[in-house]
Amino acid sequence: MEPSDRELEEAVREQLRHVIDPELSADIVTLGMVTDIASQAGALTVTVALTTPSCPLRGQIERDAREAIAKVPGVREVTINIGNLDPEAKAALMDRARRIAQKDAPITSIPSGARILAIASGKGGVGKSSTTANIAMGLAAQGFCVGVLDADVWGFSLPRMLGIDDRVQAREHKMVPIETSVGRGSIKLLSMGLLADEGDAILWRGLLLNRAVQQFIEDAHWDDIDYLLIDLPPGTGDVSMGLARHLPRTEVLIVTTPPMAAQQVAGRVATLARRSNLRVVGAIETMSSFTCEHGTPQAVFGSGGGLRLSESIGVPLLGSIPLDAAVVEGGDDGVPAITGSSPGAVAYQALVQKIATLLPPLHQLEGCSARLLSALDSAVADA
Ligand SMILES: Nc1ncnc2c1ncn2[C@@H]1O[C@H](COP(=O)(O)OP(=O)(O)OP(=O)(O)O)[C@@H](O)[C@H]1O
Ligand SMILES: [Mg+2]
Repeated sequence: MEPSDRELEEAVREQLRHVIDPELSADIVTLGMVTDIASQAGALTVTVALTTPSCPLRGQIERDAREAIAKVPGVREVTINIGNLDPEAKAALMDRARRIAQKDAPITSIPSGARILAIASGKGGVGKSSTTANIAMGLAAQGFCVGVLDADVWGFSLPRMLGIDDRVQAREHKMVPIETSVGRGSIKLLSMGLLADEGDAILWRGLLLNRAVQQFIEDAHWDDIDYLLIDLPPGTGDVSMGLARHLPRTEVLIVTTPPMAAQQVAGRVATLARRSNLRVVGAIETMSSFTCEHGTPQAVFGSGGGLRLSESIGVPLLGSIPLDAAVVEGGDDGVPAITGSSPGAVAYQALVQKIATLLPPLHQLEGCSARLLSALDSAVADA
């Protein structure tokens, strides 16, 4: 039997609870941003009110809402109207957001203004960790404080790639990531590799391996970071589910190599991530063409996989990193290639530039609820 319009409206409201306002870290229904849901014979009209009409997240929220509604069986068509909250409604929304933030505050020390990007891939060995290390280095060189969470608990590689091997210490029973300055910025790293010594195993007695990622999120002092990059292990099913539970505002970057098969697996990862309501924000192709010493590019693994992936999952292709021995050497020596001038370095620099422009730390977004965030943060701190 077809669901009635009332039932559809209810089902749509429930689905919209999966749409998160990334700045306020809460869903748009709980925040009171969904001001109207009406169904007429399966044709849905939904009104979402934003804090300001020029909200830079407008497109994203609209797209996420459309995707969420499309999951409801029986919906024939969807119209989304974007409205504005009047000052009174806006004050109420901030009040709600504050209370939600307070409720969540003890769970993580990741500031609400930080942008959380998880680097994922379907296949192993495609260059996720190299990409994470190079992005971290590049963003830090621009003056950002970049947290790096090595979620590859068993196959950790970031300590080596970033040339960091100090041991993690505890402060107030929480882990303090190892901080290294890079130009005007810095990198803060947490990885199993920084606490896997036998002696440390005693110190970290409480650390259960299967909950390590959760503890890296919850029981760590991340403090004033602008970005948190999460290097996921390959085949990200359960880890991405875990992130969705603990850090619902995580956004996903998907790395693929050019071959068709790799790109299809990467596409499935995008589907998986979205199923756990994580937003996929970009694709990155690695091990693209190889430029030989005569300057002729050779597509060793084929070409176009990154672009096909980005088109099939509907996200921008943020960069194509060529096959480059300097990337391997940089990873082995602990000095990411981006600091040099090889073709790989140049491609990574362009990628970092795109990320800094298209995916800035949330506290840098102007004209949106972000401006109210510092007030929110201090209110939470006061509480
Ligand atoms: N652009 C590149 N050119 C040449 N070699 C590369 C490039 N990117 C990564 N590599 C090399 O490929 C290997 C795998 O890279 P990396 O460890 O970054 O992949 P990964 O996806 O994190 O792997 P895993 O799934 O095992 O975690 C490494 O030896 C690395 O140096
Ligand atoms: Mg890796």
